[in-house]
Amino acid sequence: MTFPTGFLWGAATAAHQIEGGNVNSDWWQREWGHLHGAAVETPSGDAADSYHRYPEDMALLAGAGLNTYRFSIEWARIEPEEGWISRAAIDHYRRMVATAHDLGLEPMITLHHFTNPIWFTRDGGWHSDAAADRFARYVEAALPILDGVELVCTINEPNMVSVLADPEVGFPSVGLPPGVPAVTATLTDAHHRAIEIVRGAGKRGGWSVATQAYQPVPGAEAFASEYGASREDVFLDAAAGDDWVGVQAYTRTLIGPDGPLPIPEDAERTLTGWEYYPPAIGDGIRNAWSRAGVPVYVTENGIATADDARRIDYTRGALEAVHACIEAGIDVQGYLHWSALDNYEWGSYRPTFGLIDWDRHTFERRPKPSLAWLGEVAQANALPPA
Ligand code: FCB
Repeated sequence: MTFPTGFLWGAATAAHQIEGGNVNSDWWQREWGHLHGAAVETPSGDAADSYHRYPEDMALLAGAGLNTYRFSIEWARIEPEEGWISRAAIDHYRRMVATAHDLGLEPMITLHHFTNPIWFTRDGGWHSDAAADRFARYVEAALPILDGVELVCTINEPNMVSVLADPEVGFPSVGLPPGVPAVTATLTDAHHRAIEIVRGAGKRGGWSVATQAYQPVPGAEAFASEYGASREDVFLDAAAGDDWVGVQAYTRTLIGPDGPLPIPEDAERTLTGWEYYPPAIGDGIRNAWSRAGVPVYVTENGIATADDARRIDYTRGALEAVHACIEAGIDVQGYLHWSALDNYEWGSYRPTFGLIDWDRHTFERRPKPSLAWLGEVAQANALPPA
């Protein structure tokens, strides 16, 4: 199974989940009970200390044979107080971009990956009428980081941001809460403003959507398409006209006539409790392609498991689905695995998604066999027979 020439192969991370010490972000403040929000099991603390160890992390990815690294820059570090820009933070992320280039890695930069500066959240977050202006001002300020960068992801999983926008609404046992229309509108506005800015600077812009592979049981087709509308489709529709769209998939959601169905009793589950279902990425790619009609990158896909052989098996299954989409004529341009490193999974370190493990006291990196495996696939630009 050969992939198109120029296909990007890489891994993804997000600042808050790996950097450590992200004290000016709303997430850090929530973790310590200083800001309203659901309690977490463990605070992020030093995370993987990748703020300091990124050269080693990138070298491991490049050394294994990958050619792309998707990472996010942290708004809370760049603009810790409203209107005040940290030149040191800008320089830090410029060094990260330079390091990626030196190692032969194409950097894909995410401008927003869930976390916000404290001041932004205190002042209404994405509910505020000023949110899109504030985001656009930050994107302008961050432009020096994007020198020499081609691929920019404006906002990671805006649909998750919208469905979780009301702090009183928790996750249901299956499925997701509906998107909050006003927040969706603001995110879409912020995205389009950011696209204009990064395009003006010669970049290719897109955003990445969490696709949930809503699969109707017979008779539930209409309900499933209604269910997906505010949670997924509206965000893919908004990507029409962008330079690309990112698809992020982990599992599927079976939809019955009255709503999402529980995971089948006999299904294998991952460490996040999700159904082990590698083909989910194919559902996401097809939906993104039919709605946005622009080139697709898999910007995240992976599995939380302590058994690295299952990670390889999952990734192989996912890549078979990606390949089938390409064969069907869909313009898929890259596959970025989630995640480069085990990391802070929004409240806990237990779900391990990484291609690289690290010692919790010394931060020493321990690449897993799956990293070498994915690197070989990347080098061959082909999936070897199982
Ligand atoms: C996605 C997020 C990412 C990570 C994975 C498991 O929703 O973008 O930060 O938490 O799921």
